[in-house]
Parts: sequence; C-alpha cells; structure tokens
Amino acid sequence: MINNILMVSSEAVPFAKSGGLADVAGTLPKAIVDNGYDIRVVLPLYKTIKDKFKKDMTKLCSFNVRLGWRNQTANIYEYKLQTEKGNTLIYYLIQNDYYFERDSLYGFNDDGERFMFFSKAVLEMLPQVGFKPEMIHCNDWQTGTIPCMLKEVYAKRNSFYKDMKTLYTIHNLKFQGICGFEFLEMMELDSSYFTADKLEFWGGVSMMKAGILYCDKLNTVSETYSREIQLPSYGCQLDGLLRSVNDKLYGVLNGIDNDFYNPATDHLLFKNYDINTFNNKLANKMKLQEEMGLEVNIDVPLIAMVSRITDQKGFDMVAEKMDELLSLNAQFIIQGTGEQGLEDMFRYMESKAPGRVKANLVFSEEMANKIYGSADMILIPSRFEPCGLTQLISFRYGTVPIVRHTGGLADTVLSYQPSTGEGTGFSFRRCDANEMMVAVREAIRIYEDKAKWNELTNNIMKLDYSWNTSAMKYVKLYEGATGHADNETRKMLKKVFQVA
Ligand code: GLC
Repeated sequence: MINNILMVSSEAVPFAKSGGLADVAGTLPKAIVDNGYDIRVVLPLYKTIKDKFKKDMTKLCSFNVRLGWRNQTANIYEYKLQTEKGNTLIYYLIQNDYYFERDSLYGFNDDGERFMFFSKAVLEMLPQVGFKPEMIHCNDWQTGTIPCMLKEVYAKRNSFYKDMKTLYTIHNLKFQGICGFEFLEMMELDSSYFTADKLEFWGGVSMMKAGILYCDKLNTVSETYSREIQLPSYGCQLDGLLRSVNDKLYGVLNGIDNDFYNPATDHLLFKNYDINTFNNKLANKMKLQEEMGLEVNIDVPLIAMVSRITDQKGFDMVAEKMDELLSLNAQFIIQGTGEQGLEDMFRYMESKAPGRVKANLVFSEEMANKIYGSADMILIPSRFEPCGLTQLISFRYGTVPIVRHTGGLADTVLSYQPSTGEGTGFSFRRCDANEMMVAVREAIRIYEDKAKWNELTNNIMKLDYSWNTSAMKYVKLYEGATGHADNETRKMLKKVFQVA
C-alpha cells in the first residue's frame, strides 16, 4: 500500500480559489485521507488567505531558495484540518513576502518566476519538514517543473529524492506557463535542455511541457478530454507530444464534495430540499427572483450560467443568439466574473430585458449555491471542458444542465430521451450557436411537460459524483507509478481508464 503522498497545487479550498482546480486540490485529498492514506497538500501562503486560517498555522522552518542569481526565503507553515470523518489532513503553506503578499493569486508579469519559486521550495522543503513522499502529485503548469527538477536535478544529487515518483494532472491545457530561456538556469539545467524534444517550446521554456515529459504518470480530469487533447483541435500545440506519451496518459473524472453541496443541508438555501421534497426548490426560486429583481413567477423556466466568464466557456454563442434567447419565455441569471468584453455583453443583455435577465458579475460562492438551489437549468456551452464541476453540482441540486458535448460534459451529460425517460440533461455537439439553441428549446419544451421534467430531475438527483470512486482511481495511479500495484490494479490501469 502506498502511504506518503504529497499533493502540490497553486490553489486549494478552503484557503485559496480561482477555479475548479482549488476544489479538486482541496477535496480529493480529504477523500484519500479518509481512506487511510497519508496524503498532505502544499500551496502558497497567499496574502488573501483568511486570518481565521492564518492564526492557526504553525511555522515549521525557513530556508533560502536559489533561483539563478536570486535568493529568496521560503517560510514553511503547517495547518491541520479535521475532515468530517475525524481524520487529520496536513497542509503545508509556503510563505514569501515578495512573491505572495499580493492582492490576487495570478495575473502578474512574474507569475512564471513566482511558481518556479514555489515549485523549488516544495522540493527543498521535504527533508526540512521530514516528509518523504513516495508520490508527488502535481497539478497544471504552476507545478509542471517539479517532475523535471526532481528527476534531472534533485534525485541526481541527493539520494533522499531518488525513489520519488510523480503524477502530473492537467486541469486545463490552455494555460502552459511559457517562460524565457533564463528559467533553465533557475531550474539548474544547462542549455542542452533547450531543444524541441525537451523543454523548448516556440522559443521559450514550457512548464506544462516539462510536466508532461518528465512525470511518471499523466492524467486529465475526464476520459473524453484526455482523448481530445491528442487532437490538433484541442491539443494547444502539444497534441503531438501527448500522442507520443499516451501510454502513460489516463482520464479520471473529478468528483465533488457531497457534504458541502447538499440541498438537504445547505444553509445558504432559503429552503432545504431533497429528492422527496423537490417542490421546496420552488420557494428558493421565488426568493432568488425577488432578490435579483426578476419577475417572481414559478412557471417561467429560470436558466442560469455560473462560471468564469471566459471564451473557454462558449459565451460568444450566447452573444450571437442574444435576441433569440430573449424571445423565449425564460429568465436568465449570469453569475461570475471574467473577460471585460463578455461581461459587458451580459450587462447589455440585462439592459435589454430587465426583469428577465440578471447579470450578477461578481465572484461569490454563496450566490453560486443559491443559484444551484433555485434555477431550473444551467447553460454550459463550453468550447472545451476538461471536466467541469458545474454540471456535477447542478445534478446534486436537481438543476438540469444544457451543455456542449465535450470533455467532462460529454462524459456526464447524456441527452434526455423522452421515449425511454433516460438521460441527465441536454447536449449539442458542435460549437455552433444554432445547435445550442436547439438544445435550449428542447429543454424548455420538456420543462413544460411536468411529468417528463420530474422524471429528468429525479434521474439527476439520484446520481452520485462524490469522490469515492475517483479518489480510489487516483490511488491506483499512485500505486501503479510507485510499484505498489498488485495484479488487479495493473489490469485496471491497463484496461479500465486508460484512454489511449
Ligand atoms: C479547470 C477546468 C475544469 C475542471 C477544473 C478542475 O478549471 O477548466 O473543466 O473541472 O479545472 O479539474
């Protein structure tokens, strides 16, 4: 059995979140700890982390990290979190004034250097805090250089690191951490690594590529996405490389925290409900309509979009079909923040139909839960979607997803078939606004047939996307990489969820 595992992430709930990565890095380790494994999590100690957490952190040690000619101090703090099941999950937080005392997590010119510092500090920290993981689980470009530095630098000079293996998880291939040539020096690598078969990428050094190439096992957060990224249309110029390493590439669907997302106990809801008291959801709908300044009417379908507002999410299709959407007998709520142009589009949409459209362009987890607990449908027309947590959360709240058939959305949302009663939502295939409209219209048609709608909401409320299954798949991947796999695990790794 594998025991010591370190999860490395640039964000994790409950400390710091900008997107789905934080949910995964926060909730997957809890599920693994609850299954009896020693997994710990490490992330930067950002200025934005709440004081209620900071005050319970204990300082463990301090040391210098060299990044080329720069020398920066890393202060390591520890935080112990009790899981609902009574187990202890240890977090390490890496503090440095210069890199992390800033008002947001990302978006700075020196993001590359900030996460290079973080990645190096993670490796340097291990002997200092006395934790020797068999497996280091890295996530996205911010931690992509770890598998490479571990193999090419640390393991070569210190036997402490010799047997450590890595899993690299891609949550979003689009963001790659492309830096300059000087990053090789920060990684303590010479210029022989600046070639197309190593770290060079269109004249720069790619952290994403470093992760993909040097990890022992690689995965994405759904099976479909791990197939899609091997195609030029989804591969972000790394499809060739991904095809060449596809014998170590897997797809493992994310889970969600079923305790946090539970309409029966969610204290953010006006009225709690479950599958047997589903009608209570209507009280939430009316309350939300009132709060958002929409016409209070339980019969009009309320369609929500809860998302980072970026082009990944396909909102340009909504812009293209704005007039047609507004001609439908439906209300719309848009919740989230993102790109200026798209935010303005939603503001304009609200101004065209006040009382039927609310553009609530703020990041608010509370509001997101209220919307899940009130809306009838959720629209997710993503251009690409590595997994997507929104549809999984919506299932839990009996809110029907209308999605584009891609990535994790394709793996979880099956179009409702009125003839058989099967299905978990509505979906459309191509990135085409007309196809999206067909799906939206079909959803509204079924909504108007109360018996069918009940059948569909019943179907989705019965689904279970808690971490139970997926967490054990991760454990199998860890075991496969570290030589702990028994025959059954080996077979499973070969057949069950390898996608190549
Ligand atoms: C990224 C992806 C999203 C995925 C999440 C967690 O935010 O865009 O699809 O669910 O990571 O893996």
